[in-house]
Amino acid sequence: MQTKNTFYITTPIYYPSDKLHIGHSYTTVACDALARFARMQGRKVMFLTGTDEHGQKIQDKAAAKGVTPQAYVDEIVAGIKELWKLLDISYDRFIRTTDACHIESCQKIFTRLYEQGDIYKGVYKGHYCKPCESFWTDSQLVDGKCPDCGREVYEAEEEAYFFKTGKYADRLLKLYEDNPAFIQPESRKNEMIAFIKQGLQDTCVSRTTVPWGIPVPFDQKHTMYVWVDALSNYISALGYGNSQYSDYDTFWPADLHMVGKEILRFHTILWPAMLMALDLPLPKQVFGHGWLLLEGGKMSKSKGNVVDPVVLCGRYGVDAIRYFLLREIPFGNDGVFTNEALIARINADLANDLGNLLSRTVSMVEKYFGGTLPGPEGRAAGEFDEDLIGVVSAMPGKAAAAMEQLLIPQALQEIFKAIQRANKYIDETAPWTLAKAEENRPRLAAVLYNLCESLRFAAVLLAPFLPGTAPRIAAQLGLGQNGPALCYEGLAFGGVTSYTVHKGEALFPRIDPEKELEALAAETAAAEAPAAPAPQKAPEAAPQQHLAEITIDDFAKCEIRVAKVLECEKLPESKKLLKFRLFDGERERTILSGIAKWYSPEQLVGKHVCIVANLAPRPMMKGKYVSEGMILSAEDDEDNVTVVELPQSVKPGSLLG
Ligand code: MSP
Repeated sequence: MQTKNTFYITTPIYYPSDKLHIGHSYTTVACDALARFARMQGRKVMFLTGTDEHGQKIQDKAAAKGVTPQAYVDEIVAGIKELWKLLDISYDRFIRTTDACHIESCQKIFTRLYEQGDIYKGVYKGHYCKPCESFWTDSQLVDGKCPDCGREVYEAEEEAYFFKTGKYADRLLKLYEDNPAFIQPESRKNEMIAFIKQGLQDTCVSRTTVPWGIPVPFDQKHTMYVWVDALSNYISALGYGNSQYSDYDTFWPADLHMVGKEILRFHTILWPAMLMALDLPLPKQVFGHGWLLLEGGKMSKSKGNVVDPVVLCGRYGVDAIRYFLLREIPFGNDGVFTNEALIARINADLANDLGNLLSRTVSMVEKYFGGTLPGPEGRAAGEFDEDLIGVVSAMPGKAAAAMEQLLIPQALQEIFKAIQRANKYIDETAPWTLAKAEENRPRLAAVLYNLCESLRFAAVLLAPFLPGTAPRIAAQLGLGQNGPALCYEGLAFGGVTSYTVHKGEALFPRIDPEKELEALAAETAAAEAPAAPAPQKAPEAAPQQHLAEITIDDFAKCEIRVAKVLECEKLPESKKLLKFRLFDGERERTILSGIAKWYSPEQLVGKHVCIVANLAPRPMMKGKYVSEGMILSAEDDEDNVTVVELPQSVKPGSLLG
């Protein structure tokens, strides 16, 4: 079926700007099922995922949190890896764009493109969308907003390097024409052709205002545009341009880049143009899948309507969530996530069809044969066998054909068709009736054997989709874990001589939809409407020491302003003092503050604090420093000091009063 016995599949590399949601999990679970299926077929697989860690958005997020961008992404990436572990994602390699080997590759790629004239220096004038990290010209904006996500863009004008994307327009069009499978689904190809035909602009590939990026090696005030950095991951992770890995010759070109539809353009225009310029082979296929939507539209952190995969897995189990994502969403189109649909899928397919088939079969083998079925000589073939065996035997080929075309829901449909056929076979053969007469025992044994065989096929074929469940089915069938009976290769009906079963727990307990939806609604309501706070009573208080009364005019003499902490450091010569560099809305100033006992410098960088701005400058540490103001903090009678902090939305320079 395949032309080459290797399979290189990639997910997009995710922005570690926030925790990932169920939409991101969808892409990764789909790739995981494809990778596992290919491994099962005996192909040598490289399944790559990772994180896209540079750029303006991450830089801003880190500053808002008051930590370095590296510290910021490190924490989120650890969470992403945990999520993939929870979802049973079997990636072979995880690339981070902050990995030294990736940086080395990108710098080599950029330098080579510059030296051969594919990258040149110019001036960028236009608009930039931060969430999408995309540049736009006037004519590309839709109602003045980003054409991809509809959000605000901002004006940008700066010296920049450009990649000659435009030069590759004709070759790109020819690529699509000569390789109809390159862009999938087919329908998305026309969008790309139209984009090129409207006049393909060169791509701005460097920034001078985003320090959090890979430096352009021959012009250090520039960093590389994140998309050039990010796309290169697909070859840097194989060792192209670095010596960390050595898999490039084995796995490049990629068999499949799986991406969401909104980033298809980068993968089918900019990326192949870069590869053409580098004179490297092109990926065989880019698949742009649809979005997992909520009833109210696209999930997004800024809308506050994301579905957390960790919560879902905790409630329903990892395989139930994997199954829902893979089965429910027509691959390539958008699909809607609802709790109702999820519960319905779990009940109908997993609890009823699959779970019941296993529990009924195993129970009957235990009840009628004490757990062990007789061998071939003790079984008698009969009516309905041929049809069941035909459907079950055809299942591997049909599922594989669907997977070959990336029709994941259809592959599952084929497997479940066979499971449903087996359930029908129970009704047709009525084993409980056969069990009533001794002379029917060989027939009863054959019926139960055929059911066990059907379940064995299901266990083998479901493993790529439900990696936690397949071994549980095998264990109840007494097949161990990795024995030859569970091998996809040579899967043949009748391949197991006999069965000794062990009844286990229900695979997927049935959920009562009404009760579950009520419980979910109650949880959501509790989360959305925190109980009204009880009226507060003043606690018993110790007398305070008061200052002399002042008038409003006295108070008006104090100029208290918001300032952003740009830098903060400990002073080697003082245990008490921290030295701040702040921006007060007009200029930078230095303030020394005696709060080293309560804060470490990194806790304060990026914070918006309040300063007394018109306090006379004061020499400190024997005149070595001059403190230009005071940072406000609150001190209680137990020696706790808390710096007064305002939200990031309050601009530096704002006056307090
Ligand atoms: N960093 C870029 C990709 C660079 S690849 C060289 C990026 N990152 S992302 O984190 O914003 O998105 C990663 C993937 O998650 C995209 O393919 C995107 O389509 C997918 N999804 C994000 N939300 C989604 C849904 N609600 N539904 C399905 N997929 C979703 O783009």
